[in-house]
Amino acid sequence: MGNSIGIVILAAGKGTRMKTDTPKALSLCAGKTLLDYVVHAALKFAKDSSLTAEIGIVVGHRKELLEEWWQTHSEREAIKLAWQKEQNGTADALKACFNDLPHFWDYDYTLVACADTPLISENEFNELFEVMKKDSTLVGVAATFETEKPTGYGRIIQDKKGFQIVEEKDASEMQKKIQEVNSAFYIIKTSHVKEVLGQISNKNKSNEFYLTDLFQTDYAVKAVKFPSETPFLGINTLEQLANVDKLIRTKKIKRMMIDGVRFLNPDQVYIDADVVIGPGSTIYPGCTILGKTKIGAGVLVESNCFITHCSIADGAHILASSYLEGAIVLEDATIGPMARLRPGTEIGPDAKIGNFVEVKKSKLGRGAKVSHLSYIGDADIGENSNIGCGFITCNYDGANKHKTKIGSNTFIGSDCQVIAPIEIGNDAFIAAGSTITKNVPSGSFALARSQQITKEGAAKKFLKSKKT
Ligand code: UD1
Ligand code: CA
Repeated sequence: MGNSIGIVILAAGKGTRMKTDTPKALSLCAGKTLLDYVVHAALKFAKDSSLTAEIGIVVGHRKELLEEWWQTHSEREAIKLAWQKEQNGTADALKACFNDLPHFWDYDYTLVACADTPLISENEFNELFEVMKKDSTLVGVAATFETEKPTGYGRIIQDKKGFQIVEEKDASEMQKKIQEVNSAFYIIKTSHVKEVLGQISNKNKSNEFYLTDLFQTDYAVKAVKFPSETPFLGINTLEQLANVDKLIRTKKIKRMMIDGVRFLNPDQVYIDADVVIGPGSTIYPGCTILGKTKIGAGVLVESNCFITHCSIADGAHILASSYLEGAIVLEDATIGPMARLRPGTEIGPDAKIGNFVEVKKSKLGRGAKVSHLSYIGDADIGENSNIGCGFITCNYDGANKHKTKIGSNTFIGSDCQVIAPIEIGNDAFIAAGSTITKNVPSGSFALARSQQITKEGAAKKFLKSKKT
């Protein structure tokens, strides 16, 4: 009994039935690629078992995008890529793996998995491997399941000696009625692969080399029927993608409710698989929370907020219709309603961002306030400073971006602009309506607006002069 396994994930297909340009394996499902899910299950299976294991992913259609995916994967050391130049079928894909990664012939077993099956977990791999381990005469096992809608799947044709798999396109009307189908997850002795892979022909309706031909009634192979079809749900169309996406998100929200997160209407919230929300937080309907967003405990997110790749600390309050992207919001801060935080923004503890305020790549200290109608870009605002209504950091001179620095406990009146680069110190006071072009030292009062002229009783005369 050997103890090494090569895990081959087939991901070269275009995904023609998806009708999109992205390779199917990189389609997003609850915020992660389909491939991420399968790789995660494979890595977990490899770690939990005592097997020496390595993952080989067969890429093809738009392989540069899969190479980019690989580059950013945290466990890329355990993963190799192989290139299937033309997508001539699943058996041809496995051949491409052995061509590019010949050391995969040295593994005792070969596990084949498809990249388009995101609900798969290490449990199915373990179960399949257990069956293989128990009977040393077996050369291969295929995971199967029964389904009321077998359309699209290869059918399991059983007879006294064993079984074989017939693809939908090649099946007779009788065979199409069979409800036991192929999941396309297999564990095969590598010696068996070596013996028969080269003999597989493409004489079928699709003119493709089918990996399912590794299983024939003459071979010592076994169909391992799993009780539920859910882990094997394959994604070939956008409708199937939407259905599985929904399953993952619904499960995620259920889990979060058990862990103490309140959803006023769980059906109306869209949450990605990697989002974390702490206990005692409440999420109103209509919110979309994406990516690796982390929300602390006791946070309130009101209706229709869009939050992606953010970190929101305990006790923060995100008021209705706010848009937060790549921002950090610290404890007990208040954002919105209708605020926009852009990447690189950090809002300090107890700070306040009010309605129609846009903040980009800026840092606000503890208790700072920008309550109404303002643009803060490339700025650093100190603790407890209060920025009045209609304030603008003029950070762009048409060619370059410049920084604004405002100290702590400074007051800026309404309708002010500062022309960056500029520094305003601590405890300063800027009078309303000022356009500040020069630095203002700490403790200073600055006023930069034109003198008012008032001519008593002149209003009527002025209006008359307008009439001809
Ligand atoms: C496959 C099985 C079918 C099974 C179903 C389960 C075959 C011939 N058929 O059909 O019996 O019921 O999965 O979901 O294997 N791929 C490549 N290179 C290719 C072709 C495909 O890498 O040349 C990859 C795809 O990217 C995909 C996987 O192999 O990840 C399966 O291909 P797909 O076209 O989805 O096969 P199905 O028609 O679903
Ligand atoms: Ca498929």
